[in-house]
Amino acid sequence: MTVYPALPDDYTILALETSCDETAAAIVRGGRTIVANVVATQLDAHRRYGGIVPEVASRQHILSLPPVLAEALAALPNRWDDIHAIATTYGPGLSGALLTGLNTAKALAWQRGLPLVGVNHLEGHIYASWLLPEPDQTPQDVPEPQFPLIALVVSGGHTVLALVRGHGEYHLLGQTRDDAVGEAFDKVARILGLGFPGGPAIQQAAEGVQGASSLPRAWLRDSYDFSFSGLKTAVLHKVQERQQQEAKIVPPAESRGRRGGKPRPSDEVAPAEQPAPRPPQHDQFVQQMAYAFQESVVDVLTTKTVEAAVQYSAKEIVLAGGVAANVRLRAELTRRAAVPVRYPPIQLCTDNAAMIAAAAFYRYQVGVQQGWHLDVQPGLALGAGPSDD
Ligand code: KG4
Ligand code: ZN
Repeated sequence: MTVYPALPDDYTILALETSCDETAAAIVRGGRTIVANVVATQLDAHRRYGGIVPEVASRQHILSLPPVLAEALAALPNRWDDIHAIATTYGPGLSGALLTGLNTAKALAWQRGLPLVGVNHLEGHIYASWLLPEPDQTPQDVPEPQFPLIALVVSGGHTVLALVRGHGEYHLLGQTRDDAVGEAFDKVARILGLGFPGGPAIQQAAEGVQGASSLPRAWLRDSYDFSFSGLKTAVLHKVQERQQQEAKIVPPAESRGRRGGKPRPSDEVAPAEQPAPRPPQHDQFVQQMAYAFQESVVDVLTTKTVEAAVQYSAKEIVLAGGVAANVRLRAELTRRAAVPVRYPPIQLCTDNAAMIAAAAFYRYQVGVQQGWHLDVQPGLALGAGPSDD
């Protein structure tokens, strides 16, 4: 077995992340200290379509990469002379989007004669928990996560429960059989008319709601797999039922007044000219649906993660990915787990390049490095390596 010497504490990695709709560059020292973390979000470019459009994403990455990279490098006194290696996400993600980051990283590494480290995006999310959350903290202030640990990676494209026995040692316990959790949040938000991205919108709508009706939970007994499409359909059916009820209770046009009150002259218009005002309880219904949906998701995710931690005697649970920003999920997992639960600050839960640099540090430390033939792998699984390496 080859024994690799530990990398020095000041080993500095420049990483790029372009797998989806965030163009990101970051510089991380010693795998844990963030020197620069720049993220240019494309949300506004995609919001009008209600979801991410791959072609728009690729084009936007090409435009954003140079300024994002320049801003990250400006944090180093000697710019390129302070960088020891280049890292980039090579999968999973949108192929065109991944290509922009990978090709940029290759060009930079080639030009500067630096090693190139390809990182799995899901692994990157897990390593966000290795980063020091506050700028004034030192690695001594915050101990590294302890193996074996259970990682729950919940993002817009993935829902993965894994046992992590050491750096790069992943054992997949379960994953979604249909929609990813973040995808379910986004779709349900669209059904409820809450906008995009759905996760933060649903969380906000559910705030302060109490005693709402409950929605089903897909337990898939004796398995660590998940399923969220039935839950999404249940919300859709409730919304359709509600719309049918509303249609039945709307009084005839000639007797209809504002918000059900007495008719006034200005209200006496044909329905086609003036749409019926929404009943006042509409918002409350949306809030209750958002609450019930979030509770159902959080219950299933938490129950399975806590069970896995007990079964595999995990020392910690690491919550990762965009949905790890959900405050209800964080709170419930922390309340129910018997071991410490770690999750990154919100800006490190969603896509960023600092997490890619952190993962690259621990991969490169054990000799993992890629050649110029490294290609994007849109369907890359956690624990899998480059297909042609
Ligand atoms: O990890 P991420 O930034 O991108 C992917 O790799 O997919 O995750 C994005 C997902 C979106 O589906 C978004 O709705 C969800 O994370 N998300 C949340 C919250 N913030 C972001 N879901 C639930 N609650 C939140 N607070
Ligand atoms: Zn992600």
